[in-house]
Amino acid sequence: KYERAYFMPPVVSYDWVKKDHIDKPPSWCSVDLRDGNQALIEPMSLEEKLEFFAMLVKIGFKEIEVGFPAASETEYNFIRTLIEKNMIPADVTIQVLTQAREHIIRKTFEAVKGAPHAVIHLYNSTSVAQREQVFGKSKEEIKQIAVDGAALLKQLANETTGNFSFQYSPESFPGTEVDYALEICNAVLDVWQPTPARKAIINLPTTVENAMPHVFAGQVEFMNKHLKYRDAVILCLHPHNDRGCGVCDAEFGLLAGAERIEGTLFGNGERTGNVDIITLAMNLFSHGVDPGLDFSNMPEICQKYELLTRMQVPARQPYAGELVFTAFSGSHQDAIAKGMQHREEKSSAAWSVPYLPIDPKDVGRQYDSDVIRINSQSGKGGVGYILKQHYGMSIPAQMKEEVGYAVKDVSDREHKELSPQWVYQIFEDKYINNT
Ligand code: KIV
Ligand code: ZN
Repeated sequence: KYERAYFMPPVVSYDWVKKDHIDKPPSWCSVDLRDGNQALIEPMSLEEKLEFFAMLVKIGFKEIEVGFPAASETEYNFIRTLIEKNMIPADVTIQVLTQAREHIIRKTFEAVKGAPHAVIHLYNSTSVAQREQVFGKSKEEIKQIAVDGAALLKQLANETTGNFSFQYSPESFPGTEVDYALEICNAVLDVWQPTPARKAIINLPTTVENAMPHVFAGQVEFMNKHLKYRDAVILCLHPHNDRGCGVCDAEFGLLAGAERIEGTLFGNGERTGNVDIITLAMNLFSHGVDPGLDFSNMPEICQKYELLTRMQVPARQPYAGELVFTAFSGSHQDAIAKGMQHREEKSSAAWSVPYLPIDPKDVGRQYDSDVIRINSQSGKGGVGYILKQHYGMSIPAQMKEEVGYAVKDVSDREHKELSPQWVYQIFEDKYINNT
């Protein structure tokens, strides 16, 4: 037996639902090296983390959660290496995670000593389930843990060389009474006293995504409206993907007033993962909004990601998987071939080719090998396209139809995808060798 384990905010208006697009990108924080890494069967080594960090910088991330320094020696040494070897570009801020426990906070500050700029990310768990089952503490006691942690952050930031700002997450937020989560966040902010010149981050995680996206966004809307120091607070979201709706949580949450998103490449992370930043960024891109992240060489990013995490990018991963721009079916191929032709003739500015949400070239994919592929589902349009693209041949409509049927027959019989060379061979056998 299951029961819903989330809380509706006391008041919601859902006004943001009327908006049909997001007009500017959020600030992005990659948590690949922390949430992503902690979910790997074999966490990354120090060298692998350095290589991943360099890839994130190259993509354009300006905020990167680099680890949980108190969690392991590798985490700690990685952060020390970044700082001591001056490997953090001037426009990049690192972020480190700490529980609200004194010895862990102290270890965290040791790890970031001398950082040009670091966000210290404090969290404690606030949900009913965690309060009752894990900590056996009252609401007041749980709030006190957050407030004491916040105070220690402030004290150690003053005592430690480096430049620090603060972030707080009420972990297990969706299972927390929303007005209580607000009370804790405001109590933490009262300790930090942020100003517009020195902002604090309040981060709302769907630690376990257990509500529908509009419910989460209703919670975000409530927090956005009632947080204290609002012009000195960056409202951030950290969606997980247990219901498969992490992207939707993030998009609705941005409409509802959030300004920053934490997520990972390809949605790596605990259980079903964190929100996939690539999908979010490319969704913005496909609406004409520059996400400020560069995914123009997706094949290289996929390859490096797979090598470093030992995870696989699924073939249907949005914008990145092997098959996401591929059409095998005849009617789709025909429409794509016509759309591409139309684009060539009209040199139209906006991308509108049927069945292709974006121009595959924008993520480093090739028309030749990625878009039209031939099997027994394919038709004349696809075959015509292959002969034109690969062999520069424009054949008449009837011929296209005949070769189309011949190709279909072979693929059906052999039960195989046919390469462009094979398609050409069938054409040659039929019309040149007459076999
Ligand atoms: O998912 C989560 O709640 C977290 C917190 C530590 C922010 O990763
Ligand atoms: Zn998380």
